[in-house]
Amino acid sequence: MWPTAELHVHLEGTLEAELLVSLARRNGLALPSSDPAELRSRYVFSDLQSFLDIYYANLSVLRTAEDFYDLAYSYLQRAKAGGVQHVEAFFDPQTHLENGVPLAAVFEGFSAAFEQGRKTLGISAELILCFLRHLGPEAAQDTLSLALPYRDQFIGVGLDSSEIGFPPSLFTDVYARAAAEGLHRVAHAGEEGGPDYVWQALDLLQVERIDHGNRALEDPALVTALWDKQIPLTVCPLSNLSLKTASPDLAEHPLRRMLEENLLVSVNSDDPAYFGGYVDDNFAALEHALGLSTTDLARLARNSFRSAFLPEAEKDRLCALVDACATQQAAPAERDATR
Ligand code: HPA
Ligand code: ZN
Repeated sequence: MWPTAELHVHLEGTLEAELLVSLARRNGLALPSSDPAELRSRYVFSDLQSFLDIYYANLSVLRTAEDFYDLAYSYLQRAKAGGVQHVEAFFDPQTHLENGVPLAAVFEGFSAAFEQGRKTLGISAELILCFLRHLGPEAAQDTLSLALPYRDQFIGVGLDSSEIGFPPSLFTDVYARAAAEGLHRVAHAGEEGGPDYVWQALDLLQVERIDHGNRALEDPALVTALWDKQIPLTVCPLSNLSLKTASPDLAEHPLRRMLEENLLVSVNSDDPAYFGGYVDDNFAALEHALGLSTTDLARLARNSFRSAFLPEAEKDRLCALVDACATQQAAPAERDATR
C-alpha cells in the first residue's frame, strides 16, 4: 500500500449507502429504499449528469454538524486504511445551503472531524470550497461572501458539477476575488469539456491544479503548457469508468499517456461511495490494467505529495515515506536476483 495524498475527493461523494440509510433514519427522512444494497444497485451512470442527479438527491440527509462530522470522519478512517496521509477535500456548500443547512453546521462538522483525524489517525486534512458551476457566477460570489467569515477553515476554491455549457470563463471574477483573499485555486476541467475549458481554467481562473484534465491530451500545445508549468492533474480512473468519460477498458486510460508525457499526474477517488473504490482501489486497478511497475506507482505516489498545497519540507518528509515503501517493495526481487 502506497503512502499518498488525496487531492480530488468530494466529501459528499464519500457518503456510503450504509451511512446514507442511518442518517436518513436519524433525521426522519425518507429514501427510495432503506436497503444499502438496493440503493447501491441504482449507482449505474451514463454520464456526469446522471450521477449528479442521484448524488445531490442523497445529500438531503445531511442536516446537522454531527452528520457532517460522521461523513468526514468515516472517510478519513477509510482513506488512512488505504495509505492516505494527507487530504485536500472538496465540499459543496451551495447544496447544503439550498437544503436549509447553515454553513456554520457544515464547517463545524468537517473541521471537528479533521481535528479528530489529525489527533487519532495522524492524517492531515484541509477543505477546498467548490462552486457549483450550474448555479452560475453570481451564486458563486454570494457563496464566497457567506464563506469568508470561515476563511481560516478552508484553503482554496474549486469548481465542480455539470461541466458542459458552464465554461470556466463565467467564473473569472470570483476566482480573482478568491486569489485576492489568498485562497488556492483549482477547477474541474477536461472531464467532459474539451481542451478549451482547460485553457480557460489556466489562463482566466489562474488555477494551480486541474481536476481530471483528461481531454487536455487532445491539444499538443496544452500538453506542452501543462508540462512547462508543471500544473498538477488530479486524475480519477474509476470515476472515469463509472461516468463513461474514458474508454471502458482501463488499459486505455489517458493516465498512461500522461505518464509518458511526464505530466505531474496523481491518482484520486473523486466520489468513492459511488464509483467503486478509494485511492488504494484506484491504484490496484491501474497497476493491474496498465501493468504499472513499482517505479511508476512510486512516481504517482510522489506526484500526489508534490501536487499538494503543503510546505516543501512536509512534501519532502512524505516523499521519503514513498521512497521507503519503494525500497521495501523492490527488496524481494533484489534478494531473488542475488541468490
Ligand atoms: N465531477 C463534477 N462535479 C462533481 C463530481 C464530479 O465527478 N463529483 C461531485 N461533483
Ligand atoms: Zn471531482
